[in-house]
Amino acid sequence: MSASALSGREVLLVVGGGIAAFKSALVARELQRRGAAVETVLTAAGQRFISGVTFAGITGRAARVDLWDPSYPGELHIALTAKADLVLVAPATADLLARMAHGLGDDLATTCLLAARAPVLVAPAMHPRMWEHPATQANVALLRARGVTLAGPVVGPLASGESGIGRMSEPAAIVDAAARALTPQDLAGRRVVVSAGGTHEAIDPVRFVGNRSSGRMGYAVAARARDRGATVVLVSGPTALAAPEGVEVHRVRSARQMRDAVLGAAPSADLVVMAAAVADYRPADVAAEKIKKSDAELVIRMVKNPDILAELGAARRPGGPMLVGFALETGDLVERAREKLARKGCDLVVANLADDGFDGDDNRVTLVTPGAVVPLERMSKAAVADRILDHLAAQGRGD
Ligand code: CTP
Repeated sequence: MSASALSGREVLLVVGGGIAAFKSALVARELQRRGAAVETVLTAAGQRFISGVTFAGITGRAARVDLWDPSYPGELHIALTAKADLVLVAPATADLLARMAHGLGDDLATTCLLAARAPVLVAPAMHPRMWEHPATQANVALLRARGVTLAGPVVGPLASGESGIGRMSEPAAIVDAAARALTPQDLAGRRVVVSAGGTHEAIDPVRFVGNRSSGRMGYAVAARARDRGATVVLVSGPTALAAPEGVEVHRVRSARQMRDAVLGAAPSADLVVMAAAVADYRPADVAAEKIKKSDAELVIRMVKNPDILAELGAARRPGGPMLVGFALETGDLVERAREKLARKGCDLVVANLADDGFDGDDNRVTLVTPGAVVPLERMSKAAVADRILDHLAAQGRGD
């Protein structure tokens, strides 16, 4: 399965008339950046807030505004929707939602929305009083019942200077939702627990022993599992990464806290992916006060941490979760991964060499199972995540 659900896909972006329309240019740019081709339709009100020229410049295609476009010989609304893989309405105003809900077709945008057979995603944007109005809520309920999905609105500062629900989701979140809408939900109903990041093992109240793990691999697994329909619990050590939307995040610091969080979530999971770089050792004693420097050597005695993956492996029972571990090695990759697979009792070890992807967005890994060794080419961490999750999807099909 492709990590980039938007790559090579056609998105029809319908821009309604709200101040959030200025952010729709960033939506178009982000769709484009992730590989989609974008056609833009602006409503008359949309054009009051942003020019079609902006979208033409970003997408390389003329923005369409007129059902009666004399420069187009055929039926524009039919042509635009026939090729669309996704229709995205951003911003979706209260008026546009109402016209969609009631099947009106009095301009190019609404005729497109009637003619479209692709999934429809809307990103509402309006004042909270308009969003909360029973008419808007009833229209949204109608649209949802018809299979339309919503991205937002979210709570935040509004154009009026007030704050409340009604703000359009941020462009990146809208494009994430677009990718999700184009992704087959082959993990729907499955539960995935992922650990990510390194751990911090305290030396004193202000110092710790840590490692360089960025957490990106585990976060990618969590995001892709969510995109494919799974319910996801992410147990995260300290990282600089933002929590992925739609994922239950448990933040921890030490290996022992991570153990408690993972073991707490694992019993109901179908898959546990231990992508975290768990510290193998921790200082035997944590100083209660900040350690002061002196001329003497400082010796910190370290004791073993619990091995979370090995503990899960030892407690395996039929019907329990599939277990995936990671192996970061500096040599003898496959041999050591095989040994880890057996010793920790897991189903799959994702092995990589230390220089091949510790940091950065790409990784080159080898997937080692009891029956196979599959070296993968260098690919994005999201693509690696998909290859790991394919094992769970395959198990679901009874393989
Ligand atoms: N792991 C764990 N608990 C630990 C240490 C590691 O659950 N205390 C998990 C990691 O999340 C990873 C896998 O075990 O999925 C491999 O960890 P690694 O540190 O590479 O293996 P070790 O068992 O520590 O072996 P070695 O130090 O010999 O490489």
